[in-house]
Parts: sequence; C-alpha cells; structure tokens
Amino acid sequence: MCHPASPEAQSDVFLTRAWYNSLVARVLMVSSEAAPFAKTGGLADVVGSLPSALRSLGDEVAVVIPRYASIDLKTAHRVWDNLPVHFGPVSFPVSIYQAPAPYPVYLVDCPPLYDRKGFYGESGMDYPDNHIRFAVFCRAALGIARVLFRPDIFHCHDWQTGLVPAYLRTAFATDPTFFGCRTLFTIHNLGYQGLFPKAALAEVALDPSVYRPDGMEFFGRVSYIKAGIEFADAVNTVSPTYAREIQTPEYGFGLDARLRGRASVLTGILNGVDYADWNPQTDPLIPAPYSPQDLTGKATCKRRLLEEFGFPAAALDRPLLGIVSRFTRQKGFDILAEVAARIVAEDVYLVALGTGDPEFEDFFHLMQQEHPGRIAARIGFDSPLAHRIEAGADIFLMPSHYEPCGLNQMYSLRYGTVPVARATGGLDDTIDVGTGFKFAGYSGEALLDAVKAAVRAFADRENWQRMMRRGMSMDFSWKAPAAAYAELYRRILAR
Ligand code: ADP
Ligand code: GLC
Repeated sequence: MCHPASPEAQSDVFLTRAWYNSLVARVLMVSSEAAPFAKTGGLADVVGSLPSALRSLGDEVAVVIPRYASIDLKTAHRVWDNLPVHFGPVSFPVSIYQAPAPYPVYLVDCPPLYDRKGFYGESGMDYPDNHIRFAVFCRAALGIARVLFRPDIFHCHDWQTGLVPAYLRTAFATDPTFFGCRTLFTIHNLGYQGLFPKAALAEVALDPSVYRPDGMEFFGRVSYIKAGIEFADAVNTVSPTYAREIQTPEYGFGLDARLRGRASVLTGILNGVDYADWNPQTDPLIPAPYSPQDLTGKATCKRRLLEEFGFPAAALDRPLLGIVSRFTRQKGFDILAEVAARIVAEDVYLVALGTGDPEFEDFFHLMQQEHPGRIAARIGFDSPLAHRIEAGADIFLMPSHYEPCGLNQMYSLRYGTVPVARATGGLDDTIDVGTGFKFAGYSGEALLDAVKAAVRAFADRENWQRMMRRGMSMDFSWKAPAAAYAELYRRILAR
C-alpha cells in the first residue's frame, strides 16, 4: 500500500497526479545483479546505485538478488529461514539473507540453484536449469513481498525477472496480498531473452494460458523477457534512442512488433552515473587525481598505465586507446577485428580489458602477440584496472553494434577520455560532436574513419583539452533519471 507523506495529503480523496506525487512509493527492485554484491556488467551498476538516488527523493526501496557462491554471507544475517518455493510436487529450499547496506538488500539463498561458479553459466555455456533458477528467484521475490517488504511497485530488470509480472497475472491474480501492486519491467538488453522449450512452463508451475502470441510464446518456445514485456504494467528501457530502436526490425530481436504493440506504455530513461564511484577527483583506484581545472594528474595516470603494460616511452605522446568491455558480439569487436591492424598503423596504442566469448578473448590475445608493445590485453574481470584504464587512456573505444545505454562512455567523459563510439542507443544520446567521435554505419571502415578523425584531433593539444573538459563537465548523475523513475512509478500507480 502507498503511504501518504503527510497528513494533509491523506485528506485529499481524489487520486490526482499531485496526490500521487506526494506519496512515498515502496519499490522492490528485482534483479539478477546489483553492485557491489554481484556484477558482470552495467545492470549491476544501475541496480547498485538507482536505489540511493530514489531514496534521496523520498521513496522506499529494497533490492532482491540471488545469493551466488561469490557472495560472502559472513556479514549478512538470515531474515527468513524457510520460504520454500513449490512447483507442483517439486520444492526448493529457500532462505532469505539481508546484506549490509543503507537499505534492505535481500539475498535469495537456494544452494542447489545458485551456489555455483557462474551467475548464468560456465565456460560459455548457460546452465541448463536457468528456467528453474530464475523462476524460483521470481517466486522468492514474491515471498519477500509477502513477508519482509511490501511494495507498491515491483521494478523488474531483464529476462531473469520477467516471471514476476507473469505470476502476478496468473497464479497470484486473485491473491489479496498483491492487490494494487504494480509492475515495471526495465529492458537493459533485448539480446538476452531467456528462451526455453515449451515444457519449461509446466516445470515452473506457470498457467498454460500464458503460451500465446501476446503472452510468453516466441517462435515455438517460451520467452521470459516476453513475459516482462507483455505482463508488466509498464515497460521501459535505458535510453530514449534504444526505446525507439527496439521497435524496429533491425534492433528488435524478433520482438519489435510486440514492442510496437506496447508503445503506449514503453519509455526510455537514460541510466545515471554514480559519481561517488566514478570521479577522477576522488577516485582512490587511480594513481593521481585530476579535474577539468588541473589535468596534470591525468598525464600521471597515462604514464603509469603505459608502464603497467610495458609500453615504450614514445607512447606517451601518442594517443592511447582504451577498451573495457564484456567480450560479446554486441560490442562490435567483429568490425574492430577487420581494421585493427590499420588502426595500429595510425601510430596509436591500445589497452583492452574484458572477458566473455572465447572467440573475442582469442582475438585480443592474437592482437597482443601480433603487435607487442602496441596492443595489450587483459582477459578477466578487474574493477580497479577498469578505473585505471578510464583514467589513463586518451580515447575510449565503443564500436557497439547496439548499446541500450552504455555506462563506460559516460565514465570516460567524466575522466576526460574522449569516446569514439558507434551512434546507437545510449551512445548516441550521451556523446555529441563537442565531446566525442561517433560513426553511423556498422563497418570497419566507418570505425577506422572515426578513429582517424580522433587521432587528427589529438594532434591539436589545446583543442583536444577543450574537448576533454567539455566531456568532464557534463552531468550524467542519477538526479534526472531517478526523478524520471519516481514520476513513472506514480504514473503507473495512478492508472
Ligand atoms: P554492459 O552492461 O553491456 O556490459 P555498460 O557500459 O553498461 O555495458 O557497463 C559495463 C560495466 O561493467 C562498467 O561498469 C564496466 O566498467 C564494467 N566492466 C565490463 N567489463 C569489465 C571487466 N572485464 N572488468 C571490470 N569491469 C568491467
Ligand atoms: C546492458 C546494456 C548496457 C546498459 C546496461 C545497464 O548490459 O548492454 O548498454 O548500459 O545494461 O542498463
């Protein structure tokens, strides 16, 4: 239930927008990742930082994620002992822990399902029981809503949480606990859909009626992301441009028609940056602090990064390109591969950090062997190194095929590391001609042209520093996006 912020608000019997704006919304964020507890990419950054921004606007927020093996329970405490999830005759033992945080962060503990090396799979293979793992997770989130944190809004993120709206529309449609509860489904990446054989429905106790074209059916399989898209009260994605792109066949991953069908409840809200973590003036993970007023620390960061990777002293005067990324097809490494040798021929240096598809890990290994002292790659997930690259590089490369929002280009802007990026999704929304270099066509040649333009601009040091400073002073904080979410919650609640 909603709680009026003040007694005056209570006396207003009309559900006007103003009245709703005065309410405190209780939001349960359901996500498969949240920093600092579990992170493979930007989803974790978003779910790790949006709650604080919403709380500063007055809303009450709790977060629920699975308790993976990598999450240490030493500092957590058990808040619910036995919340088993039953799927017909099969039941899963679930306990709920609460992690230390300024707001409730619930960890769904179910060792047979989550006590594994990976979050979603191992050695490039998804776990075969992911449909069960994330169905149990969604049901546990509903259990938390029943006994630990009663929300007005379930804010669900990506396919792993699509079953929350599906269960609420079916098995729990008449359960008074959830009367008045609304759901928002945020698409962080349409490329990951949670597709399973039709038989999965029975295994996770979903009503067979959901298997229909305007439900979870997707080309003969069941789609968890489609459950979120079709059954949530509202849907959003993480940039205005991506919200438009996913309604086209080129970026819709087969879901564009259904997304067009939901256009009246589909919006784009650009992600924010947590400048407490990503600020070169205060970042404890970089060798020297710097600011738009005093860039000397950035030169130190570059020198130290070059030393760390064993690059020659001559590199100091040449552009240093940085990449920090999940290694997947989405990120445009196929077009980078086409022109990598020609990029290097521009007398530039490249540092890449990432992990993911073996195909791209091999590519970066090979590049390093072919261009020793020019290209260096670190395969793995290393947050401190990500900060050092953001601070030490001159240019940040993001040739993404598609990019729902992208956080790294916003971090780069703040670190005076000029982005060279493909004009798609959030990249297009956050970079302009005064702060970076964008290219439109998805081709190696277009990428190469953009890199060449950046290298030419780098030669004019004064102009380059002006560009750095412009980027550094842009504000991509959570202030505006959190207000947009708060407003969206109220619109959904007022419906
Ligand atoms: P995506 O979510 O598609 O991976 P984003 O740009 O939104 O892309 O967010 C990526 C986040 O993950 C950033 O915080 C980035 O620094 C981090 N990251 C990605 N790969 C690595 C890595 N190998 N090591 C450390 N951090 C990484
Ligand atoms: C996804 C997208 C990325 C976005 C992130 C957080 O992983 O690929 O563009 O920034 O989610 O929303």
